[in-house]
Amino acid sequence: MIIGIPKEIKAGEKRVAITPQGVDALVAHHHRVLVEKGAGEGSGFSDEEFQKAGAILLQDVEEIWNQADLIVKVKEPQDQEIPFLHPGKILFTYLHLAANEELTRKLLHSRIIAMGYETVQERDGSLPLLRPMSEIAGRASILAGGMCLEAKYGGRGILLCGASGVPPAKVVILGAGIVGANACKVAVGMGTRVSILDIQPERLRYLHDITQGHITTFISNRMTISEEVSEADLVIGAVLIPGAQAPKLVTRQMLKRMKPGSALVDVSVDQGGCFETTRPTTHQDPTYVEEGVVHYCVANIPGAYPRTSTLALTNATFPYILQIADHGVEKALTENEALRKGLNLIDGKIVCEGVAQSFGLPWMANPFSPRP
Ligand SMILES: NC(=O)c1ccc[n+]([C@@H]2O[C@H](COP(=O)([O-])OP(=O)(O)OC[C@H]3O[C@@H](n4cnc5c(N)ncnc54)[C@H](O)[C@@H]3O)[C@@H](O)[C@H]2O)c1
Repeated sequence: MIIGIPKEIKAGEKRVAITPQGVDALVAHHHRVLVEKGAGEGSGFSDEEFQKAGAILLQDVEEIWNQADLIVKVKEPQDQEIPFLHPGKILFTYLHLAANEELTRKLLHSRIIAMGYETVQERDGSLPLLRPMSEIAGRASILAGGMCLEAKYGGRGILLCGASGVPPAKVVILGAGIVGANACKVAVGMGTRVSILDIQPERLRYLHDITQGHITTFISNRMTISEEVSEADLVIGAVLIPGAQAPKLVTRQMLKRMKPGSALVDVSVDQGGCFETTRPTTHQDPTYVEEGVVHYCVANIPGAYPRTSTLALTNATFPYILQIADHGVEKALTENEALRKGLNLIDGKIVCEGVAQSFGLPWMANPFSPRP
């Protein structure tokens, strides 16, 4: 199969959809990999590294889209890329179509085979291609929070880990899923005092066990949140109710009882945020202060770490890419149930129920599902 890797052109996006190691493995399976010149630069992979791995470097991105059977990307197609989409091409990338009707209609019109990383789903309900970004966002949220506590950002001037004779900061984490658990691991590793709240007792039990009781766990409810937040130096928002807006767990009133110069990092901002005072920020201007509390609400935290993010993403996507390349899309989707759920659109029709329902559009059953 011919696999195309264009350079990402969405503003601020520095990741690339494959590493030289991935190219090497695909070439070993007798596939041709076309990589746009400079595609890996933002993640620290040079054209020479791709070339040595066996990629064919091309300057002209249109040629890549024209020649490739399978285009692998990181972000959804941008306006400049829409004219390159032709019927029958396979596109595998983060699409998030349920939040973008205009793009959905454009992709339907192009009649491509559109596969979204975010809808690839294992039998146990886990989302293997979203997980690596949640891991990174969770870990990075503690670093971002540590920055917010610096005096120059309006913070209390507290070093998260404290010093000898000086107590460490108190970190409160709302949500003990992938983001929350990873935030917890870093916060514990830095020697902070950690409280974590969730509505699922088994998530709390798991974290309590793996940290050998070095954290305090609470069932999440309004009163406990209010008490814990009022004592916190740093609060991490990491809750998710699948398919819904994040619940507003921390109100402006609660903020008023926090210590001036404490900090909030809302990782849930991409689902509307779990603090009443959340509004999305960017890496260029990541913080603002409300009620004396420093807020950090960047919606693409992993974007700050393109190399780590590229490696983590491609570790997760590679087995699926290889399966499509080796077997062809029809056989791969027929045989792999998780990958089949990644199919959003085919031949001008929606097969992902969630996408169709978002816009009141018709949808058809996945043509690769086993017949009843
Ligand atoms: N900002 C970013 O860059 C970035 C990156 C990755 C993920 N995210 C977002 O982070 C959020 C969390 O993602 P995740 O992968 O950890 O999800 P997850 O499903 O693994 O975990 C969410 C947790 O929230 C808990 N929860 C739900 N309601 C709660 C409540 N009222 N109180 C306490 N806990 C509650 C759930 O029980 C679950 O354990 C999502 O909104 C995701 O989109 C943002």
